[in-house]
Amino acid sequence: MLKGKKIILGITGSIAAFKAILLVRLLTKQGAEVRVVMTPSSRDFVSPLVLSTFSNNPVWINFHDNDNWNNHVELGLWGDALVIAPTTCSTLSKMANGQCDNLLIATYLSARCPVFIAPAMDEDMFKHPSTQANLEKLKSFGNSILTVGTGELASGLYGEGRMAEPEEIIEHLTGFFLSSSTWKGKTVIVTAGPTQEAIDPVRFISNHSSGKMGVALAEAFYLQGADVKLIAGPIDITPKYAGIQTIPVVSAKEMELACLKEFPTADAMVMAAAVADFTPKKVMEQKIKKKDEVLNIELEKTTDILYQLGKIKSANQLLVGFALETENEESNALKKLKEKNLDCIILNSLQVPGAGFGSSTNEVTIYFKDEKSETISLNSKEVIASEILRRIERLMPGS
Ligand code: CTP
Repeated sequence: MLKGKKIILGITGSIAAFKAILLVRLLTKQGAEVRVVMTPSSRDFVSPLVLSTFSNNPVWINFHDNDNWNNHVELGLWGDALVIAPTTCSTLSKMANGQCDNLLIATYLSARCPVFIAPAMDEDMFKHPSTQANLEKLKSFGNSILTVGTGELASGLYGEGRMAEPEEIIEHLTGFFLSSSTWKGKTVIVTAGPTQEAIDPVRFISNHSSGKMGVALAEAFYLQGADVKLIAGPIDITPKYAGIQTIPVVSAKEMELACLKEFPTADAMVMAAAVADFTPKKVMEQKIKKKDEVLNIELEKTTDILYQLGKIKSANQLLVGFALETENEESNALKKLKEKNLDCIILNSLQVPGAGFGSSTNEVTIYFKDEKSETISLNSKEVIASEILRRIERLMPGS
């Protein structure tokens, strides 16, 4: 669920700062991208080197490093969430009052994303009316305050004020992203893989599609809380999550029947399969023997499934197609977008090294109805899939 999410982690000068190391580990393990901003005093509690190593990113502490200005505005806009863990009493007060004397507060004031605060302090400090008033003020700004734990405190006393455990913070973030997801509870159908068109009982016509892109899309939708059905041609991979319902098909005809059956139940449908455009007119009952020098197989066009779906699509359904082009990419993709009545089309170019069939990576360009486009540059098919979801969710009817 946190895969591809951009998390700004703010760390302040509390003994609980050591827990931030585990938090960074858990976030990156879940596939989140993490950028750490530390207050100067937090360096006494946790090493920036450890945090930059685990987050795979430089750690931000000062407004500038040598001659480079650390652009907190850009950082604030970059994040999908700002998590401040641990948050000291002093940082709470600065946040509540806009006292911008360090890079973390500047980032907080610039951030447009949701903010999660994990306070950490001694019980008396936590319960003090000034701290409680600051927390109330921060809540009124729309910030989320994570519940503090009760237990042994750094002072040696026992009570309320322990920072929420990293696992609890992860759970909270996951719940937040899930509940705010456009795709939660939506029925999404994805097609994937090639189709096989039988020539005789032992031979078929097919293509090089591995189904990886379609499966990655199905997984990304699933992780966003959608009910996902994957209509898959013959592929060697299976989705990682058992909750994805797979409907196996072989031929273009079978894929057509499955798509037409499922489409009425779909809120969104993504046609990532490489459906055969032609199929043998006649399937030989027996194996064709090699008696002649030349063998002619008559092929006939298959149904263009996407075109059919575009014709029956209702106003509250989202329909997304793929285009595989080797020339005149943009004009061909835009033509298909229009003719097939799609909400957007994702162009797969075979000209980009590392993109396309069989590869684990891809580069795509999404074309929208207004002919604007967005390119998602070369990355793993998993990252490309979650980026596609991020960019098409605004097209979902009613969003
Ligand atoms: N498609 C389909 N049914 C077919 C052929 C293609 O639903 N019989 C869908 C694909 O799944 C894809 C889109 O149509 O989402 C475009 O497929 P593509 O192969 O790029 O183009 P075609 O429409 O088949 O046209 P051409 O082969 O002439 O480029």
